[in-house]
Amino acid sequence: MRFIRELDQMIAYEPGQPLELVMRRFGLSEVVKLASNELPVPPFPEVQEAIIAAIDGLNRYPDGHCTDLRAAIAAHYGRDGEEVVIGNGSCELLMLIGDAVLERGDELVFAAPSFTVYEDISRRHGAAAVRVPTVDFVHDLDAMADAVTARTKLLIVCNPNNPTGTYVPVADVQELVDRVPDDVLVIIDEAYNEFVSAPDAQDSLELQTTHENVVVLRTFSKIYGLCGLRVGYGLGAPALKEALDKLRQPFNVNRLAQVAAIEALKHQDKVRARAAANAEVRAYMAARLAARGRATVPSEANFMLVDVRGLSVPPEQVFEALLAKGVIVRDGHALGCPGWARVSVGTRAETDFFLAKLAELEPGAGPLSEGRRS
Ligand SMILES: Cc1ncc(COP(=O)(O)O)c(C=O)c1O
Repeated sequence: MRFIRELDQMIAYEPGQPLELVMRRFGLSEVVKLASNELPVPPFPEVQEAIIAAIDGLNRYPDGHCTDLRAAIAAHYGRDGEEVVIGNGSCELLMLIGDAVLERGDELVFAAPSFTVYEDISRRHGAAAVRVPTVDFVHDLDAMADAVTARTKLLIVCNPNNPTGTYVPVADVQELVDRVPDDVLVIIDEAYNEFVSAPDAQDSLELQTTHENVVVLRTFSKIYGLCGLRVGYGLGAPALKEALDKLRQPFNVNRLAQVAAIEALKHQDKVRARAAANAEVRAYMAARLAARGRATVPSEANFMLVDVRGLSVPPEQVFEALLAKGVIVRDGHALGCPGWARVSVGTRAETDFFLAKLAELEPGAGPLSEGRRS
């Protein structure tokens, strides 16, 4: 077989470990997964009902244009359906946008650390990844604007940023966008937008209406709890939709995903309740860790970076040590944050489980931890 040369530079995406696998490997009866920034509760009951009702139609292909879902998203944001792109998760949209704009020798600007998929997007096209270091884990938007050259085709702002959870005000993103030439496509990746509780949070969609070269990506994977179905969307110029329609596979969003997303959008009161619940557990987790002298990075998302230095095992072994105790987190090292673990905000009970297991790794917790094991 002869593969494209770009593959030599690429590595396969490493997802969080599946629950069942960890249970089997360590012979555990209780395992908590806080590794993939998933919502810890099932989809809304109304969404589950809509999915069940749609099962009968699975012998038919889905609507390739996502007509009803497109209309629902457009109505939700007061936009035109031609401004809405829908994908098999926002990951697919990120890749399709890369396909649409990147060629060998082009440059893609993004923060470091940020979502690891951005790196893959540049590599698959032989484009150069221009990684702009964050400052205290926050996007350095000025430096990102400075990094734009005549070869830059794409710039991505991840807000809140994965894996740091940090958030930049939309007014600052606006300044960046104002500085970027019109022929550079700017993606504002807002997979975690609905979790933001910062008082200065504004709507970046406003920014998108004044700049044709901006696309805002959001997803049903996170706050809507539908990552298992794969559906994400973007709001951008109609020209972007035209381009992606040529590149995407004909039926990229499955039938169940479409009906589930349409139903989910109708329950904004529940979305707000979920955001509030997330903010509460997020604050609780940070406070409990701070009380132990353990630092976290202030997060506006449904995960946070936790300092795992100074434990009884070296930081690079914390991931495996927690795994053996039944807690799956993400090793910060693999995400560009050595010395930190990225931990999703779970339910209060899941968070307590994580806090207890992490406490067992604190220096001097040895004998106590034996006693705590059940
Ligand atoms: C920053 C960011 N963007 C996009 C995605 C992709 O989400 P999905 O493809 O599930 O919509 C993720 C998933 O973790 C993410 O963290």
